[in-house]
Amino acid sequence: MLRFDEARRRADELRELIRYHDHRYHVLDAPEISDAIYDALVRELVEIEKDYPELVTPDSPTQRVSGAPLEGFATVSFSAPVLSLSNAFSEEELYAFDRRIRQIAGERPVRYVVEPKIDGLSVILRYRDGAFVQGATRGDGRTGEDVTRNLRTVKSIPLVLNNPPAFLETRGEVYMPKAEFARLNRERDERGEMPFANPRNAGAGSLRQLDPKVTASRALDSFIYEIRAADGAPAVATHLGALDLLHGWGFKTPPRTAFSTAEEVAVYLREWSEKRDELPFEIDGMVIKVDDLELHDALGATSHSPRWALAYKFQPERAITTVNDIIITVGRTGVLTPTAILDPVRVGGSTVSRAVLHNEDIIREKDVRVGDVVVVHKAGEVIPEVVEVLKEKRTGREQEFHFPETCPACGDPVYRFEGEAAHRCVNVACPARLYESLIHFASRDAMNIEGMGPSLINQLLQNGMVKDPADIYFLTQDQIESLERMGKKSAENIMRAIENSKQSSLSRLAFALGIKHVGLRAANLLAERFGGYWRLLEAGYDDLVGIEGMGDVIARSVLAFTSSKEAGILGDKLERAGVRLVEEQRPAARGALGGMQIVLTGTLPTMTRKQAEDLIVQNGGRIMSSVSGKTDFVLLGDNPGSKLDKAGQLGIRIIDEEEFRNLLAKR
Ligand code: IVH
Repeated sequence: MLRFDEARRRADELRELIRYHDHRYHVLDAPEISDAIYDALVRELVEIEKDYPELVTPDSPTQRVSGAPLEGFATVSFSAPVLSLSNAFSEEELYAFDRRIRQIAGERPVRYVVEPKIDGLSVILRYRDGAFVQGATRGDGRTGEDVTRNLRTVKSIPLVLNNPPAFLETRGEVYMPKAEFARLNRERDERGEMPFANPRNAGAGSLRQLDPKVTASRALDSFIYEIRAADGAPAVATHLGALDLLHGWGFKTPPRTAFSTAEEVAVYLREWSEKRDELPFEIDGMVIKVDDLELHDALGATSHSPRWALAYKFQPERAITTVNDIIITVGRTGVLTPTAILDPVRVGGSTVSRAVLHNEDIIREKDVRVGDVVVVHKAGEVIPEVVEVLKEKRTGREQEFHFPETCPACGDPVYRFEGEAAHRCVNVACPARLYESLIHFASRDAMNIEGMGPSLINQLLQNGMVKDPADIYFLTQDQIESLERMGKKSAENIMRAIENSKQSSLSRLAFALGIKHVGLRAANLLAERFGGYWRLLEAGYDDLVGIEGMGDVIARSVLAFTSSKEAGILGDKLERAGVRLVEEQRPAARGALGGMQIVLTGTLPTMTRKQAEDLIVQNGGRIMSSVSGKTDFVLLGDNPGSKLDKAGQLGIRIIDEEEFRNLLAKR
């Protein structure tokens, strides 16, 4: 452990570093270091702050998520009203706007700045001496909701500013990027929860959470585009200048382009209405702003919107088409997802032929039938959604869809569990699940087998070469070469990638197994706690739920896997293939109890159970819930349970608190 003064110096240094790299990554989109190095910096700071809690500062990058859930949001009042924008839907309206501006501007040259109109939520941020002190939603424009703790979890919103003014109030937009929206809805489908209708709703839902942890788990982003008040900031004369200032303080500002005529603006708007699909976030138009801030004052505002800005709205990305079929696909966790097969139609710059229907309730609610004429809409996802059925177009020949009672891939019965919207196939050997599991197993964040994508996996399955993920490691060069479109060289590359993946970490393996609810984070926790595949398999419910950050749902799901016959078979096969099943020795494993498996039973004379457990973990031991042949010793207290008998039967060493203390003192 560092000395206090060293720890303080290092913590300051780490905070600076992390802040710098957060800014590079989340604001500038130009990271300089790898995720692994970044994680190591954060871990080091967390460790120091754990050793010296008095060193934690409210603006520390480790404090983005903090506090218990709230009962409700407080109200924030705004000194100046938070205005909206007036809308234009045609080029004529744009030219009319331009004429009004030029009339007031007289001889002054007019320049326009055009920015995307982000489909998110307007927020107001307040900073005092450079520290983020308060953030609010727009509300009704006079008062909003205090969502400070949730906004702190948005990584592109700086907690500390560079060269800050004494006081600053800014305005911008918080939004959910399309990719995050797609990820979140996939996750919700998999969990049998109702999906969000669009990124805007998902963003609003995430920002208005009473528990900041929920907000933190959704990757929200931000663009800040207005200085509402600034005491002691350099003077600026233009909107572009204001954006530069904001950028310099550390905010993420919107992309922008300046033009000197409305005609140029119109051309640019036409381009963007075609290109908007390419942006990683949803926009519903572009905002045209007068650049000259003095002109803003001259132009003024109505009670609703400023006269110096215009929202040019794009046509919504909607189209009308016919549902030709409704098909079911089976995902990795066995969820059956219905998809509408459409007459191909152009929507917002691309042709679509499918729409997600998510689950049975949504099909019922929208009453989608095969043969229906429907409105489809691109809701940020690559695959659009059915907005509504045009019932007046029904001919009577449309067919209602009935959710299958058996899995279309394996024929086993499907279940809809209580409280879930999803139907699931629970057959672990279902070929559709196997296909998806293999894709997941080989994917980059999992075992990272380069070149083993969907088409290769499909061929391997078709040819009966793999029946579970471990079979991948028994493939031969000849087998792979025998597949279609596979030359000697590519087969060699695949073999090399398979070989390399054997050395992946335990956390990758734990993730690769595709256990329901076990994402990268939970996989890491499991690897850290158990250190090896076989130890993980021995873990009881208490061991699992006792891990901080794990929770009941994940623990149960892990247990369902670890207690299955397949888990053992898979482990044996992976072991035979030479796949690494243990984590590299971490420093903790070298303590006095390095790697020992210890079971506690009964009440200890002077220590609480928690204190004893902490001592075991700190000294490199592992706490197990039940006695087995692998147990190193049982720590015995008063009124022991059946664990004592079991230990006696197996001849396991039994020690009391005093011996335990001696053991710790030894090294
Ligand atoms: S300027 C007084 N710029 O659109 C200044 N607003 O429909 C008004 N919006 O309430 C805001 N992107 O929440 C501005 N680049 C952008 C914007 C933007 C999205 C939102 C904003 C506003 C709404 C009006």
